[in-house]
Amino acid sequence: MEAPELLRLWVLAAVALGGSRAALPDHRVLPDDRVSSKTGAIFVHKLERELFQEAFLTGREDDGVATPITFQAHLRDHPDLPRWLRYIQRDPHQSGYLYGCPTATELGTHTIEVLAYNRHTYETVAQRLIVTVIPAPGGEPPYQGEFLVGNRNVEELLPVATRNIFLQATAGVWEWDDLHIINITSALDRGGRVPLPIEGRKEGVYVKVGSWGTFSPCLVAAASPESRFRCSLGQQPLASCYDTFAPHFTIRWCNLTLVSPTCPPPHPMKHPHPLLTITPLQLQVWPNPTTPGPVWGSGVLEEGGDFQPPTDAPPQDLLPGYLVTLLVPLAVAMLLCLLLGHLMCCRREGVQKRDLETSDIQLVHHTTIHSDTEELRHMASSRDGPRPLSTLPMFNVRTGQRINPMPTPSDGARVPLLPP
Ligand SMILES: *[C@@H]1O[C@H](CO)[C@@H](O)[C@H](O)[C@H]1NC(C)=O
Ligand SMILES: *[C@@H]1O[C@H](CO)[C@@H](O)[C@H](O)[C@H]1NC(C)=O
Repeated sequence: MEAPELLRLWVLAAVALGGSRAALPDHRVLPDDRVSSKTGAIFVHKLERELFQEAFLTGREDDGVATPITFQAHLRDHPDLPRWLRYIQRDPHQSGYLYGCPTATELGTHTIEVLAYNRHTYETVAQRLIVTVIPAPGGEPPYQGEFLVGNRNVEELLPVATRNIFLQATAGVWEWDDLHIINITSALDRGGRVPLPIEGRKEGVYVKVGSWGTFSPCLVAAASPESRFRCSLGQQPLASCYDTFAPHFTIRWCNLTLVSPTCPPPHPMKHPHPLLTITPLQLQVWPNPTTPGPVWGSGVLEEGGDFQPPTDAPPQDLLPGYLVTLLVPLAVAMLLCLLLGHLMCCRREGVQKRDLETSDIQLVHHTTIHSDTEELRHMASSRDGPRPLSTLPMFNVRTGQRINPMPTPSDGARVPLLPP
């Protein structure tokens, strides 16, 4: 079979497999949900438990007991949610939330596929959520303040009613009425700690609020370097205004961040206080950062340009290179060999030269030792005279009598071990 035909078969098989997977009618499908979202403003979509519970076939039978439902959401044809969208569900008896803040790069339509699981029967219900991101009419608000709410979990601030209460409370200290929430982030996503499982302990939520009006003096004072300095010493910050958030929300004023277009960029403070050198403080008021876009290198194609593959390279003559890489080291090795051979064979000087260079007395000394050693060796080889007496066992020096140290069994007498 020819290669193109094989390829076509492969493609057909892949399409058939993919199609059959997509068409599997393995769960009920709710009608699509279409929502729109503005850039630079928080988008919250509640995954209603009740809606999905009614869709489960068996969910309606045991009415009194709430069915545990979990959700799984992902961008269509992708394994996960888009970067700007996050999902939270505290436990299977509560609703889930999709929330996030789209930016200008996310303009357009995002199709999110939501799958709800009945944790008792393992039934599933699917729904498509079609989010259209439209540009905000006025652009991004220049003044942005981020508040840390200490006594809330992130999903508690997502319902629209709570958000409105929060905005009203913010208006009390900011003194503008065009405030809107830009972003909501769990403190856990910013390096916060999971709270102890004690009643009333919450994760903490960062809420970013934007406005076209300047900050009130009270907010500026709370974010001022002096206030931060007091925070770093563990004292109360300089928040002079009446805290309109209490008692609903506990704002951690030490973690207030203000972003405005007029303030100077952060710079290390020159302060005579010695403590400052230990805990350097950062000015938390800085202009809206303008991130420079990526700079394209030379290898990136022009917009719409087609890639022109280079034409066939002309055949190159590789022989000279081959010879050079092979012959040059070979020649060097040969040269070294010859040099070594010459040194070892032809330049050998030997015994005469050594004798000439050694003084006579040393030579005589040497030859004497040599000849004496030879003589001794010679004598050692012809050692067959009688052994000196002193080397024999049990020799009586005075009498010259020899005794065999071992009693011979021919004595007959056995010496008793103990005298009688
Ligand atoms: C919203 O908050 C999340 C989490 O901190 C962050 O990743 C995202 O960039 C923020 N979006 C905007 C538009 O500020
Ligand atoms: C609040 O700010 C302090 C420093 O001022 C920091 O140590 C702390 O981690 C912040 N809290 C949270 C929850 O981010």
